[in-house]
Amino acid sequence: MATRQFEDLVRVEGQAPMGQLMRQYWAPAIQSERLIPDGAPQRLRLFGEDLVAFRGTDGTVCIVDERCPHRGASLVLARNENCGLRCLLHGWKIGTNGKVVEAANMPAAARLDKIPTGHRPTHESAGIVWAWFGDPESVPPPPAHNFANVPEGHIVTLASTIGCNWLQLLETLWDPYHISWLHMDSIDRSYDTSDEDGFHTSGIPEHTFYPAEFGFRYTTASDNITLGVPFVMPWYSHHILGGTNQADRVVLAHVPVDDTHTMLWAIIYNIDMPLDPKGNGMAMFNGFPKAFEYRDEFRPENLWAQDREAMRDGRSHSGIGFRNGTMSVLLEDFALTESMGPILDRKREHLAPSDVLIVKGRNVLWDALEKFARGEAPPGSGSEVAIARSTIDRQAKAPAQQ
Ligand code: FES
Ligand SMILES: [Fe+2]
Repeated sequence: MATRQFEDLVRVEGQAPMGQLMRQYWAPAIQSERLIPDGAPQRLRLFGEDLVAFRGTDGTVCIVDERCPHRGASLVLARNENCGLRCLLHGWKIGTNGKVVEAANMPAAARLDKIPTGHRPTHESAGIVWAWFGDPESVPPPPAHNFANVPEGHIVTLASTIGCNWLQLLETLWDPYHISWLHMDSIDRSYDTSDEDGFHTSGIPEHTFYPAEFGFRYTTASDNITLGVPFVMPWYSHHILGGTNQADRVVLAHVPVDDTHTMLWAIIYNIDMPLDPKGNGMAMFNGFPKAFEYRDEFRPENLWAQDREAMRDGRSHSGIGFRNGTMSVLLEDFALTESMGPILDRKREHLAPSDVLIVKGRNVLWDALEKFARGEAPPGSGSEVAIARSTIDRQAKAPAQQ
């Protein structure tokens, strides 16, 4: 893939093609619990756009541009009262319908409702406020994810910002080979009980790649945890945390904040039973919640808190990501992916045979961009995908059961 093509996959701001394609899907924007009726407005950044989210007195959520449409003061500072945000500078008020509803310094005849506010349609499910960045005149039905309607207690939603572009972290997931190196403490030794030395003795994992209408799916022969990993356009990776049908699942969403930052969402859920912190999936990846809890302590500035002593005395291979007795694979992934820099220098990359899924994944994305440029709907953005998404995990189980 040419460097220019790679740039097109990675960049999302302004008119960048991938950003335009991504705006054809509902985007997870903010955790519902962060928006309290009449509470502090919350700053958001998605696709390089600065926004503010708030919840009105009646519980309605609204997302608009951060800058006040009058003279640009930040609405993060605004008062949130009586179903609207009132700008501190001159008192313009934006209602929960996203329109200017009061502006005392404007003529009485002014069409306040015609003033652009950057309003984004929203929808709430799974503890997430979803926002629509596409054409406001054709807002599709809410996303039909299979976790959308699971009961309370069956789902945990976590989010944290990663200091690199959206594709970089995702590609680390498309790289089964790294498990036997980076995660040799936390996955390899713990779960491959059939082999004392773990995966890393078994060489490059064999894999099978299945194109799909929603993206693609792959399985790896030596991977006894993720029994089939679907990639769902434009940024989702679906995983099953264990070998049974009732195992917990996690969906990771790599949502671009801008070209060089990503909001990583981890949606952990179980359709059949409440999540058990000591249970199969949550225990196996206990590091998932911990990774988000401890995230701020593992940053580039402190070399991701790498513990050389633990590396020397054999407690940890990587020295990264363990705290209070918990090891987190995600913290290892965050660290190593951020360590590549905000945007990997494609020209300095030397791909190996074990990177074949990364190549195939990039090709799927490139293909989607080309089709989108020709005027076709992006893969999985229509109603068919709703079906694919609602059955995706069970489909993914199929190869392992055979
Ligand atoms: S800048 Fe907000 S009301 Fe004037
Ligand atoms: Fe990893």
